[in-house]
Amino acid sequence: MRAVVLVGGFGTRLRPLTLNTPKQMLPVVDRTMLEHVVGGLGRQGVTEVVLSLGYREDVFRDAYPAGECAGVALTYAVEPEPLDTAGAVSFAAAAAGINETFVVVNGDVFTDLDLRAVWDRHREVSAEATIALTPVDDPSRYGVVPTDADGKVLGFVEKPPRDQAPTNWINAGTYVLEPSVLDRIAPDRKVSIERETFPELAANGSLWAVQSDAYWVDAGTPATYVQVQLDLIDHRWGSPTEAVAANATVADNARIDHSVVMAGVRVDADALIRDSILMPGAHVARGAVIDGSVVGPGAVVAGGAKVSGLSIIGDGQMVESGAVLDGVKLPE
Ligand code: GDD
Ligand code: MG
Repeated sequence: MRAVVLVGGFGTRLRPLTLNTPKQMLPVVDRTMLEHVVGGLGRQGVTEVVLSLGYREDVFRDAYPAGECAGVALTYAVEPEPLDTAGAVSFAAAAAGINETFVVVNGDVFTDLDLRAVWDRHREVSAEATIALTPVDDPSRYGVVPTDADGKVLGFVEKPPRDQAPTNWINAGTYVLEPSVLDRIAPDRKVSIERETFPELAANGSLWAVQSDAYWVDAGTPATYVQVQLDLIDHRWGSPTEAVAANATVADNARIDHSVVMAGVRVDADALIRDSILMPGAHVARGAVIDGSVVGPGAVVAGGAKVSGLSIIGDGQMVESGAVLDGVKLPE
């Protein structure tokens, strides 16, 4: 199986963490988001990943220069400009010479869903495209996908108003596609697979879906970027991983409560870290409190400061002594 992994977005919702680092190159506990996603695909039988790149493609190439990630062969397709999701798939497929059934995944999705089951169903019904679906409480920030009892897709509505979503089953960002789908994508312009290609395929009756209630999180927002990491240390997905990096320095009477402490972090005496993520090289000084927030790489939270309410402290930023930040992004 070959898979195109879409990683060319700007990661806007995760700013300021994504100002210099593309979303999929952010660490998730012990390795990059990309390594988790590609490693998962490898375990499902994917042998080659085509990375669909745009924003800060250099960061990916520098990190994986040997054309391999998590034991899976990598090739790179770099868009000259963002082509949106279908344009990106078409560009990457052409660059890699894909001419048989292939897989596409959104590069920010963490899931235990059974890719082989999607592939097999795709074959069974001779679909042109088959998408995995997952149930969510609020479908309004996703692609909403009603189906009939057999799994034939009846329509595809991207991010409808909350009260207009026809079902709670949403596009899980994993697809099996026939190469004929590529012929439907206009070349050299932005095309959204969610807003153009899938609605067209649904209208033709050639789009199918497979429902799954396996673990699934799109880590593209501050809340879910934190959640997927706390879920990993809570053993809700993946393999057991240390929450506190071996080379982090934590004072004896600092308290780390249900949090991720990455490499090279320093936490001083009397600090309290709860439900939070401290990224590599962050420093939380004496008596500071970090609650439900993210302290970015190399950022410093000075003594007695309080950071809470899903605040995001960007790379190398400084929170002044005694400051109180609640739901703040720094820099704004
Ligand atoms: N190469 C390339 N070029 N990649 C892109 C582009 C582009 O122009 N635009 C977005 N991407 C990548 C992003 O990096 C991300 O990995 C993926 O495409 C999806 O983009 P997101 O920005 O994360 O989309 P979303 O989360 O709002 O919605 C999508 O995912 C949901 C499930 O996670 C849609 O596919 C929804 O329908 C779906 O429910
Ligand atoms: Mg996303």
